[in-house]
Amino acid sequence: MPALALTGGAPVRTQPFPAWPVFPEPDIAALAARLRAGDHSDDDPVIQFEQAFAAAHGARYGIGVNSGTSALELALQALRLERGAEVIVSPITFFASVSAILNAGLVPIFADIDPDTYNIAPAAIQAAVTPRTAAIMTVHFGGVSCDMQPILAIAKRHNLAIVEDVSHAHGATWNHRGLGSIGDAGCFSCGSGKNLSAGGGGVLITNDPLIHERASGYGELNHPRRQRRRELTGAHETRPATDEFFPFSSGNRRLHPVHAVLGLPQLQRLDEQTARRDANGRYLAALLDDLEGVTPRRQDPFATRAANHLFVLRYHAQAFGGLSREVFVKALNAEGIPCQTEYHRPMHQADLFTDPDGELTRVWPRANAAPDVNYAAMKCPNAERACAQEMVTLPTRVTLDTRDGMDQILTAIEKIQSHQSELASYVPDSPSEQSQWSISGR
Ligand SMILES: Cc1ncc(COP(=O)(O)O)c(C=O)c1O
Repeated sequence: MPALALTGGAPVRTQPFPAWPVFPEPDIAALAARLRAGDHSDDDPVIQFEQAFAAAHGARYGIGVNSGTSALELALQALRLERGAEVIVSPITFFASVSAILNAGLVPIFADIDPDTYNIAPAAIQAAVTPRTAAIMTVHFGGVSCDMQPILAIAKRHNLAIVEDVSHAHGATWNHRGLGSIGDAGCFSCGSGKNLSAGGGGVLITNDPLIHERASGYGELNHPRRQRRRELTGAHETRPATDEFFPFSSGNRRLHPVHAVLGLPQLQRLDEQTARRDANGRYLAALLDDLEGVTPRRQDPFATRAANHLFVLRYHAQAFGGLSREVFVKALNAEGIPCQTEYHRPMHQADLFTDPDGELTRVWPRANAAPDVNYAAMKCPNAERACAQEMVTLPTRVTLDTRDGMDQILTAIEKIQSHQSELASYVPDSPSEQSQWSISGR
């Protein structure tokens, strides 16, 4: 009689993990009311949402935009970095972080991750600094803070800006300060599966009135909302709206009010949900501490609260008799535990960068120059190993569960380990959950 669910045994868990995202009935009623009021209703939930969002993350100003990618592009534009300047970024991120850099006319340079935390390693950032470096983009991967103290020191030493990609880290903190409020600007996605879902859209937060003013200008043409933001910073006093005639080369990256209406109540629940995700993550990490073969990524003391948008595990096949990571994931899925393998390649190995005659030659932002960064030769061995062999992630709904759920994860992994021989000749005949979950715009 087989023990493992994948080979016909009973699964450890039969109840689904909590659904995510959740829009309770009152949220849906508020949305319906807004739709009935029409776009020309006087009150502007976008201003309300962006202010509440910024305050919840410890920043003075917020700008609601139509995606997290737009927020990143606007932040980089608002910094007015020299065209073709370099931005150092982790290769372990969603492609949006990288494409935003190129779309802003800048050159992404990849710096390897710390092998234990999976966040960008400060020493690798330092090694990647050149006279052309203008900024660092810190992606708080999975929702756990990057090591900001040495990163801030590097930025100060070399006069670099910091843009935080906080799309995995709503409500998370570094030394009790909200992520996104540490660097010059913080950029969040509020896409459908994010820890704060507004059904779409994103938010840029900053403490700098100039970045606020410029990002608003670059993002919203001369929308009346921009005037309201100028009033909030006092910018309208230095140059009144009557003096202005389209001063920005702007895109239209406006957040539609329906997303703000959906996001506002989510914001009220974020604190409690993040506390739960963090507490369950710490509990699960402690449970897995003695287990050989599955190591949770390290959460350092400065990461005072993790959002655990992805709870990251490092899988070591040798502790499972050489069982492939893909079969391990399938076996864990069969036991009722959602998990996936996410990327199989880090971003410096994206086709965009490795095809010498491809798209990159068209979009390369340095004037009159063919791509003069050799991405094919770029080495980030920790990121490469994470993608090719180790990384297994649990989606955000898992750490929203109870402690019992975390206990079941340990039970399921131990069960697979002790019955690994059942899987010795197992050949997957259908894709595992990994194909349903991509790290993209969830
Ligand atoms: C790390 C990261 N950055 C940026 C983004 C871009 O957000 P959006 O999909 O809202 O453009 C995402 C979205 O998945 C992400 O995961």
